[in-house]
Amino acid sequence: MKRRREETVTSNIRKLLKGVKTLAITDKQFGDTGKGKFVDFFAGWADIIARGTGGANAGHTVDIKGKKHIFHLLPSGTIRGNEGKINVLGTGMVLDPKVLCEEIAILEQEKICTDGIHVSHNAKLVLPHHILIDRLREHSGGNIGTTGRGIGPAYEDHYRRIGLVMNDLLNPGDFIEKVHKNIQAHRREVESYGRKLVKIVRGNMETLCALKGRDPMDSDGVRNLILTDYAPQLTSFIYDTDGLMKKWLGKKNILLEAAQGDLLSIDHGTYPFVTSSDCTVEGLAKGVGIPVDAINMTLGVVKAFYMTRVGGGPFPTELGGETGEKWARKNSKESEATSNGHVGVDYLIGDIEELLQGIAIRMAGDEYGATTKRCRRIGWLDLALLKHTTSLTSSSKRNGSNVILTKLDVLNDCEVIKICIGYRYQGPTHVVARKIFTATPELLACTVMDEKILSYCEPVYKEFPGWLSDISKMRSRKELPKKLLNIIHFVSKVAKVNVKIISVGPERDQTIFL
Ligand code: IMP
Repeated sequence: MKRRREETVTSNIRKLLKGVKTLAITDKQFGDTGKGKFVDFFAGWADIIARGTGGANAGHTVDIKGKKHIFHLLPSGTIRGNEGKINVLGTGMVLDPKVLCEEIAILEQEKICTDGIHVSHNAKLVLPHHILIDRLREHSGGNIGTTGRGIGPAYEDHYRRIGLVMNDLLNPGDFIEKVHKNIQAHRREVESYGRKLVKIVRGNMETLCALKGRDPMDSDGVRNLILTDYAPQLTSFIYDTDGLMKKWLGKKNILLEAAQGDLLSIDHGTYPFVTSSDCTVEGLAKGVGIPVDAINMTLGVVKAFYMTRVGGGPFPTELGGETGEKWARKNSKESEATSNGHVGVDYLIGDIEELLQGIAIRMAGDEYGATTKRCRRIGWLDLALLKHTTSLTSSSKRNGSNVILTKLDVLNDCEVIKICIGYRYQGPTHVVARKIFTATPELLACTVMDEKILSYCEPVYKEFPGWLSDISKMRSRKELPKKLLNIIHFVSKVAKVNVKIISVGPERDQTIFL
C-alpha cells in the first residue's frame, strides 16, 4: 500500500514537472508556511538544491535517523548528500561561519556525505559584532523583532561596501585587514549604547557565538576565532557557485529554495517590518546567480486558511488584534501548554473569543519559531495580501500564480472559517503616492503597501462553514469534503491563484495533488 502511494506521488511529481528543469519554491506570506516539507518533497527530483537569500534567521527541522536537528543555513536537500545531490549556498546569502561548521559537523556525525555542499565564494560573512549590533538595536527600542542573528548589519555592510565574504577565509591577509576596518566602522555605534548594555548583550550571546570570553569588537580576537576555529573546516566547500549554476542551467534539474516570505521582502514586503533581503523569486534567482527567466516553474507556498507572522509589523487579520500580538510576545510554547499564560485552561479552535481561538490554532499548528522559539502571531488568510504577493510573480512564463496550500488539517475542528477579502481603512488622513486615504466604510480590495495604511486596515471577511472532519488521512481530491473544496475554489478565484497541491499533515504522503 505504502509503495503504491509512493509510486503515485512520484508519477504526480513527474506530471507536474514535465518539461521543467528549474523549479523555485517560494513563500507567499510572512515565512514559516511549510516550504521545508516541499523542498524535501521535490528534492528527490532535483540534482541541485540551492538557496540564494537570508542566513541563520531561517530554520527548518530535519529528521535524521529519528533524531531531530534544526538547520538554519544548509538547504533542505543536504540530508540527501548520500544520494549525490549538490547543495548550493548562493552569493546572496549571509553566512555565520560557526553555524555553518556546526551544521556540516552534524551531517558528518550522521555519516551523510557533505561533498556536495558548495558555498559561494561571494556569500557574505556574518561576524560576532553583527550579532551584537543587531541585538543592541533591538534592546534599545528597535521594534522589528529580528531573530538576533546579525542579518541586518551583515547586509548593511555589504551595501556599504565594507563587508567580508567567504573568499576572505581563503586569504588570511585580506581577512585580517578587512575585519579590522569593518569593526572600526562600527565602533562608534556600539559605544553609543553604553558599556552596561553592551556587557549584558555580550553576555547573552556568549554561548551562541562561542566567544570564549573574546570581545566581538576586538579584531584580533575575532580574527583568531574565525581563522583558527572555523576557516580550516570551511575552505574546501568554497566554489564559484554563480559560474557553476550558469553551467548547470538547462542541463541539471535545479530546485531553488527561498527563505522567509514575500511579505518580509526588503523591497516588496511590509517595510520597515521586513528582513534585509529580497525573499521573492526575483531575489532568489539573483542570489544564486541566474536570470529569473531561467526559472520554468514557481510554486508559492501559502499557509491556509490561517496565516502567521513573527516579530513586529502590521497584520490586519491578527486574531485578538493588539492583544493577540502582546500575548504572542510575552508567552512561549511552555507557558501556553501549561496555561501559565492565565487566560483559560482549554483553548478551543472553535472559540468565539478571538484571542483564545488564536492560541488554540497556534497550539494545534505548533506555530512556534524554529530559530527563536517565539510564539508566531496568528490571523486569518488575507486574500488582499495574497493578491499582492501573487502579482509579484504571476507572469505566465514562470507560472507565478501556482500555489501549494499547507496546514489545512490544523482547522479540522473549526466551525467557521473566515477569509479576508479586503479592508476598511479606519486611520487618519494619509497620502500614498497620489492617493489620499481617509477613514471610509468603502471596501479596499487590494493591499496598499504602506505601513500606516496596513496598521489601520480593518479586515472584511467572508465566512464559510468548516468541514468538521479529519482530512489528515485523506489522500485524494475525491475524498476531500465539499465544504473544503468550496473554500479552495473561492480562494483560487479571488486571489487568481492556481492551487496545485494541498498539504494535510507534515508527512510526505499527506500531500494531495489537485
Ligand atoms: P531578521 O531577518 O532577523 O533581521 O528579522 C527581521 C524580521 O523578519 C523579523 O520580524 C523576524 O521575525 C522576521 N523573520 C526573519 N526570518 C524569519 C523566518 O525564517 N520566518 C519568519 N519570520 C522571519
